[in-house]
Amino acid sequence: MWGGRFEEGPAAVMREINASIPFDKRLWRQDIAGSKAHVAMLGAQGIVDTADVAAITQGLEAIAGEYEANGVPEDLTLEDIHMVTESRLAEIIGPAAGRLHTARSRNDQVATDFRLWVRDAIDMVEPALATLQRALVARAEDHVASVMPGFTHLQSAQPVTLGHHLMAYYEMIGRDRSRFADARRRLNQCPLGAAALAGTGYAIDRHATAAALGFDRPTDNSLDSVSDRDFALDYLMAATQCAVHLSRLAEEFIIWASQPFGFVSLSDQWSTGSSIMPQKRNPDAAELVRGHSGRIAGCMVALTMTMKGLPLAYSKDMQDDKPPVFEAHDLLGLSIAAMSGMVESATFRTDRMRALAESGFATATDLADWLVRSGGLPFREAHHVTGRVVKLAEERGVTLGELPLDVLQSVDPRITQDCFGLLGVDASVASRTSHGGTAPSEVLKRIIEAKVGLGMG
Ligand code: ARG
Repeated sequence: MWGGRFEEGPAAVMREINASIPFDKRLWRQDIAGSKAHVAMLGAQGIVDTADVAAITQGLEAIAGEYEANGVPEDLTLEDIHMVTESRLAEIIGPAAGRLHTARSRNDQVATDFRLWVRDAIDMVEPALATLQRALVARAEDHVASVMPGFTHLQSAQPVTLGHHLMAYYEMIGRDRSRFADARRRLNQCPLGAAALAGTGYAIDRHATAAALGFDRPTDNSLDSVSDRDFALDYLMAATQCAVHLSRLAEEFIIWASQPFGFVSLSDQWSTGSSIMPQKRNPDAAELVRGHSGRIAGCMVALTMTMKGLPLAYSKDMQDDKPPVFEAHDLLGLSIAAMSGMVESATFRTDRMRALAESGFATATDLADWLVRSGGLPFREAHHVTGRVVKLAEERGVTLGELPLDVLQSVDPRITQDCFGLLGVDASVASRTSHGGTAPSEVLKRIIEAKVGLGMG
């Protein structure tokens, strides 16, 4: 393609280090779409004649059929997907193939292809995340009043409901979706026509190619167009944040599935056994979701490091932009699907959750709040009184509600029979009616909104 000024071919290792075809063949659909839009525009502008446009277009469609049927041939001497396709086009239609690259460089070509690919990737992740949200909402609705211990520092803190807990992840995934949508909006400008770096003297129509490829408009600076990959980083950052959320849910499933907790039993489909310990049911899928999140973050850091020192405009370092994006996309897709499957099929042990919620003095805050409301104590004093009550219960090995009234009154005479109604976990949960609180009435409101948003019957 550029042999005119060279006398010797490349060294074998040069060929190998230079070639991107082993991975950028994943861009073939976008590359063919970009070329078809480009040549149609060249035709409309009178830069390439109609017969050649037709030959090139038919040739590109034939190549697409070949790739679809047999995959993309990995010819390292041809370096990348752009050259593999152009060279095949020349084999099929002859010298007219050479007109396709008029007013174009591989620099704007690859920038366009890659934006199209990332846009398609976002369009795939979006419905997958909606599926995960639907799974979370459906299970939350089943368990809107199932009491479990809520934790801070992984210590029993206050009772919450499982529905509330699952809906927390619905909110996180909703923000992930909005981050991907933001990335898509910013990405959707077309770099095609920026040419190598400076634009072109041909009378091209960048608005036409942008529209043909589904972009909102052309990009506004040719140097920026071929040299930035922030659209890919936006995608990777959104993917990393999403993977972190999946990892935290996975981690909770791992903890909950452990014998000391026993809050959840993962279905056979999402567990593995041990070759030596017959009793084992390991949460491997959840562990891999947790593990993959680290790799996805690694992909984000890899591209950040690739880009951080590059002068304008294109440098070959940028060819390394694709592997981390492809890897992150594959890992994220698997992770979302696995998490959806685990959420849908998990059996929650609500009896265990309730027993643990009742055992950890998790309603101590309710007693303190009651002392403030009924006894008029300042909260700090109520906190102190309740702390002494907890200590007594701990010494006797009973729950707060099991302490006799005279013992409670020995700590503070202002405590009366009325407080007993509050010391149960259901009453505690039902009382948390502030907006977004754990009261089933509140959680249900949000579930109903979520179901409408997700188109759930
Ligand atoms: N395979 C290259 C890449 O992915 C295409 C751009 C080549 N441009 C160049 N000036 N060598 O970045």
